[in-house]
Amino acid sequence: MRLRKPHIIIKTIEQLEGIRESGKRNIEILDTVAQKIQAGMTTEEVDRIVYETTKRLGGIPAPLNYQGFPKSVCTSVNSQVCHGIPSEDVILKEGDIINVDVSTIYNDYFSDSSRMFCIGNVSEEAKKLVEVTKEAMIEGLKQVYPGNCFGTMGNAVHKYALQHGYTVVRQIGGHGVGIEFHEEPYVSFVSKAGTGAVFQPGMVFTIEPMVNQGTDEIYIDGNNNWTVYTMDGKLSAQWEIMVAVTEDGYEVMAY
Ligand code: MF3
Ligand code: CO
Repeated sequence: MRLRKPHIIIKTIEQLEGIRESGKRNIEILDTVAQKIQAGMTTEEVDRIVYETTKRLGGIPAPLNYQGFPKSVCTSVNSQVCHGIPSEDVILKEGDIINVDVSTIYNDYFSDSSRMFCIGNVSEEAKKLVEVTKEAMIEGLKQVYPGNCFGTMGNAVHKYALQHGYTVVRQIGGHGVGIEFHEEPYVSFVSKAGTGAVFQPGMVFTIEPMVNQGTDEIYIDGNNNWTVYTMDGKLSAQWEIMVAVTEDGYEVMAY
């Protein structure tokens, strides 16, 4: 039963303003990570930066204790697809690629976005995966305007990744966000054009494709029941933006 927060797919002006303010903090937290992340640092230290910056800005890290998640941020390195758990044992080294996925609760409003970071000099193939994944997300973004639909957006992301020789994870996607961490609709990045819900002003959701170098097959770590890996051990990358549908297109609320 959902009695508390019904009809949340279209946000009010007031809710949009609250989500926007949350998103500004999410951006500042990621900017702080970007300034500090480097080889030799553990992902536990990345977690500490996120926790402390979030607190300083008056927010709460949304991942912390979310469905039992033990840390304040997801840090997914190389063949980790998503939901990497920060640890003292994971030391970033030159050549690694890492996704840092930050989600913030500010004044009860949720925001969610993630970026890739290249640690020192990375291989050409890793750099290309990171760049193409970001471009794929932007291809999706261009499809966000009233009257277009989620399926066409996801299909644009998928097509772009496939054209560059990559695959897109099928079982995990984006989501509505703002009043809660994860709201309807589920947002696929392997969808068919012309399908799914129609974009309407006031919707807020994430575009967050996970793009793989090799197979799209994945598995979940049986020890922590969180971290997702590529089945073939090849690299995976992800970028995530939080967008609102406006009268004539979109507004990026966190990136
Ligand atoms: N931030 C992720 C997303 O983009 C969700 C992570 S759930 C967590 O949807 F519990 F692992 F934080
Ligand atoms: Co998300």
